[in-house]
Formats: sequence, C-alpha cells, structure tokens
Amino acid sequence: MAGRLYGVGVGPGDPDLLTLKAIGCLEAADVIAYPVKTPGEKGTALDIVRQRTDLSRKETVELVFGMNSETKARVCDYGNAAAKLSSILDGGKNVAVITLGDVSIYSTYMRLNAEMEARGYETTIIPGVPSFCSGAAEARMPLTIGEEGLAVVSMNGEPKEIRAAMDSFDNIVLMKAGRHMDLAVRLLDDAGLKKAATVISNIGMEGQYVGPIEEGRQYGYFTTVIVKKGRAD
Ligand SMILES: C[S@@+](CC[C@H](N)C(=O)[O-])C[C@H]1O[C@@H](n2cnc3c(N)ncnc32)[C@H](O)[C@@H]1O
Repeated sequence: MAGRLYGVGVGPGDPDLLTLKAIGCLEAADVIAYPVKTPGEKGTALDIVRQRTDLSRKETVELVFGMNSETKARVCDYGNAAAKLSSILDGGKNVAVITLGDVSIYSTYMRLNAEMEARGYETTIIPGVPSFCSGAAEARMPLTIGEEGLAVVSMNGEPKEIRAAMDSFDNIVLMKAGRHMDLAVRLLDDAGLKKAATVISNIGMEGQYVGPIEEGRQYGYFTTVIVKKGRAD
C-alpha cells in the first residue's frame, strides 16, 4: 500500500511555534522532504524542524524549486518533485513535506499537493502559524478589529492591483516585499499610507526587525509589510 503524503506548516521561524500536531506528524513520518531554491542548500523550514525533532535517524529529502518565474522551468521542478515523492510513497513510506509558515499562504506545497492527489495519493494538510500573524503579534497590533477587512497581496503582483487593495481594505499585508521595497514605498506614498506601514522582517529568525520602513535599508527575502489604515495619522 502506498504511503500518505503530509503537507506540514512549520511556522515562520521560532521553533516554539511548531504545533503539537506538526511535531507529532514529523516524528511519525518515515521521510521529511523540504524545499530548497538550489540543490544542497540548507532549508529554512528544515532548520526550524531540527530544533524540535530528532532528525538523526530520519530520512530527509530535498525538493528543488528554483523560484524561476518561467512556466517551463517551474513545471519541470514540480514534475521532478512529484516523481521523487511518488517513488518514496510507492515504497509504502509516509512523507511529510515541510513548508514555512502556513501551508495555504503562498506555499509551493499546494501545487504539489494537487499534483499528488491527481496521481491518486492520499494527502493530509497540517496548518502552521502564518508569518504575518506572528509578525502582528511581535508588533502587538491587531490585523483586523471590529468589522475591518484584510487583504493579503504579493508584491510580485501587478502594482495597480496592489494599489487597489490599498484603496479598498482597512488592512493590507504585503507579502514578498523584500526585493520590492521601493515599489512598496512609492505605492504607499501615493496612497498617503506610508505612516500606516509596519515592516516585519525575519520574524522569529536572526536579524528580526519590526518597525517603520527605513528607506535605503536592505530588506531580505523574509520581509512583509503590514499596512493598517487606523495608523495613518
Ligand atoms: C513564499 S511566501 C511563504 C509564506 C508562508 N507560507 C506564510 O504562511 O507566511 C514567502 C514570504 O512570506 C513572508 N515570510 C515568510 N517568513 C517570514 C518571516 N519569518 N518574517 C517575515 N516574513 C516572512 C515574506 O513576505 C516572504 O517573502
């Protein structure tokens, strides 16, 4: 009988934010698979897991997702990952694929999950703490309160759609903001919302920053901006 595939959210960085369910699943899994951008890289999600799970006798397998925007390369990465997982599952082993934050938020895993279900494998998804929820806690601010709404957008998206979210929602989370801080500042300035922005960067990791946008500062990949209109003035 084929093994079961688990998609496990491991939270944004602090290993204490791993859920009991995630730890239980990781301890029981035969194989832990983790995403990397380049072969041989040490996975951030695996670093979190190794702080709370004994990996010494556990089989670990890397899945390479090159973050290539070209559709052909992306399809190839997913095909390779699906083939790798299929051969392990066909051997009757259960595999936990770990992913940073929550599985349902911009996670490469969900495409893989769809492919594996299409191939007939049984899957289970275990949620994790999303980075922006952890960042809001660090900033001690509500993401929403009363009847407010919340938009979660990617800074890789179309600028006019990001601006539309800024115009339409009380609260906006700008994900994948690290490389796009200049664009974020421009859109926020145009919308009169720069003072409403709080950067949450490397939450639960070395170099954590929570505070206003500091122009000229370099922000890394693990950077998100929370915009809260109540804080605009
Ligand atoms: C591919 S998405 C993954 C999101 C993740 N599944 C989640 O639930 O937060 C990567 C983006 O998530 C955000 N992110 C992930 N970890 C973070 C952290 N520790 N601190 C701040 N932002 C983080 C950043 O915006 C980053 O560019």
